Amino acid sequence: MALLKQIIERYSVRSYQQRAIEKEKLLAVLEAARLAPSANNVQEWRFVVVQDAETRKKLCVAANNQRFVGEAPVVIVCCSNLSDHVMRCGQMAYPIDVAIAMEHMALQAVAEGLGTCWVGSFYEDQVKAILGIPEKARVVELLTLGYPADTARAKSRLPLDQIVAYERWQF
Ligand SMILES: Cc1cc2nc3c(=O)[nH]c(=O)nc-3n(C[C@H](O)[C@H](O)[C@H](O)COP(=O)(O)O)c2cc1C
Repeated sequence: MALLKQIIERYSVRSYQQRAIEKEKLLAVLEAARLAPSANNVQEWRFVVVQDAETRKKLCVAANNQRFVGEAPVVIVCCSNLSDHVMRCGQMAYPIDVAIAMEHMALQAVAEGLGTCWVGSFYEDQVKAILGIPEKARVVELLTLGYPADTARAKSRLPLDQIVAYERWQF
């Protein structure tokens, strides 16, 4: 139940206080990523933690000028250093592995009194150029992190009976 509480409390924070994040809290969030599962335990995720204000401004531009990307005191650039592992099921492993680690971070952030927002609207080539990320690596998503300056909205989600079937596909 404790975890469900954090899941319920998590929301996309798009306005941040200018208060710095304590180092222990940042480390706890990163530790949550480190402990995530990954296909074959390959752990291909790589995280670039950006706190420098000038770099965050550049990331804001690369992220379609989404204002909160420049405002958040920390932007975690969530990357993969390998992008050719296809699982037997036919799915690429790296976006899934990085995404799991990201949601671990998002939930640990809630436990620390912090907020996050996933950012998928960005130009990968620009982010790579800003941070010196090599061509063969991929930038999967950005995750903003900081103390929220806004408040949670009601969640808009489909009911369980529209997204879950038992025993057979019945949608
Ligand atoms: C893969 C992914 C990419 C997203 N990209 C953006 C984004 O670029 N900008 C943004 O403001 N929100 C982004 N979001 C946040 C979603 O809009 C948000 O999670 C969704 O509307 C549900 O709202 P909630 O997170 O507050 O529950 C993204 C979320 C995910 C999972």
